[in-house]
Amino acid sequence: MVSGGCVGPEGEVGPEVAAAVAERDEAVAPAPARELVVGYALTSKKAKSFLQPKLRGLARKKGILFVAIDHKRPLSDQGPFDIVLHKLTGKGWQQLLEEYRETHPEVTVLDPPGAIAHLLDRQSMLQEVSELDLTDRYGKVRVPKQLFVNTDPLSIPAAVTRAGLSLPLVAKPLVAKSHELSLAYDPTSLTKLEPPLVLQEFVNHGGVMFKVYIVGDAIRVVRRFSLPNVDEGDLSNNAGVFRFPRVSCAAASADDADLDPCVAELPPRPLLEILARELRRRLGLRLFNIDMIREHGTRDRFYVIDMNYFPGMWSDIRTSLEHIVPILVYY
Ligand SMILES: Nc1ncnc2c1ncn2[C@@H]1O[C@H](COP(=O)(O)OP(=O)(O)O)[C@@H](O)[C@H]1O
Ligand SMILES: [Mg+2]
Repeated sequence: MVSGGCVGPEGEVGPEVAAAVAERDEAVAPAPARELVVGYALTSKKAKSFLQPKLRGLARKKGILFVAIDHKRPLSDQGPFDIVLHKLTGKGWQQLLEEYRETHPEVTVLDPPGAIAHLLDRQSMLQEVSELDLTDRYGKVRVPKQLFVNTDPLSIPAAVTRAGLSLPLVAKPLVAKSHELSLAYDPTSLTKLEPPLVLQEFVNHGGVMFKVYIVGDAIRVVRRFSLPNVDEGDLSNNAGVFRFPRVSCAAASADDADLDPCVAELPPRPLLEILARELRRRLGLRLFNIDMIREHGTRDRFYVIDMNYFPGMWSDIRTSLEHIVPILVYY
């Protein structure tokens, strides 16, 4: 049995953050000199999963106060805030936030709306991973071959051939908020798809994926069950489009399952550290997650297939809950 899904000891934070916290602890101990006010603009569902009593308690001890933002009113009329934490889309909110950033440059906005937008569109989402093209002695991290299509569905098979993509392909809606994914095994089924889409080569990975959560300079990784391998038989016997709605949300934890160790072994920590550091820097984001798979039959070839900003499932990533507080103190 393979157990444990945590990279590094529980509760460990990166050296930079730890030093910053220690410094601040020293500076404010025993009681915080002034509260750090964190305004949050989150959906009620998100706020509930994120702002659990434990986090509020931890934050209070560090002198951090969470205050709900009314996303319909100018931010200057609310607050004052030291930090704005947000994950709302919508033009009205974006505009309010941009105005506020311009007039209040001293306030830290976690994270900048432009940087978040990069992850909301599947065409740009994996661009940085692709450009990074990470190869070191611990492994390689790539993006599956993919193609953006926004043409007449009948022309998709030819476009796929021109781009050199091999079937089967995962069809993903351009807007990352939609999880209506499907798998196409043959050229005819490609003509039944509904663009705009990103078509991505399906990579066999033994039915297990890794969700890597990045919170500032802390990393946590958990295993999830994923789609099974596709073999030659599946390719010749399956015609049509197979939909797998919300597979990622339904995916069960595979942390305690009895799995083939070659499939279940977590990606090497040094590799994840380089990947996380580079992506943090290139994307300008501090709260995001990466979905990673290991190419079946290899030990060190990984693919990033999806990324999300300020991911859900905070209850699932205990360590990160504690890590958010140091980030808030640090920035
Ligand atoms: N290129 C791929 N190769 C193999 N499996 C994939 C690929 N892309 C997605 N999947 C599977 O589909 C699931 C959902 O895909 P993902 O891109 O993470 O979309 P979302 O999480 O937005 O629904 C993944 O968790 C994985 O199980
Ligand atoms: Mg996903």
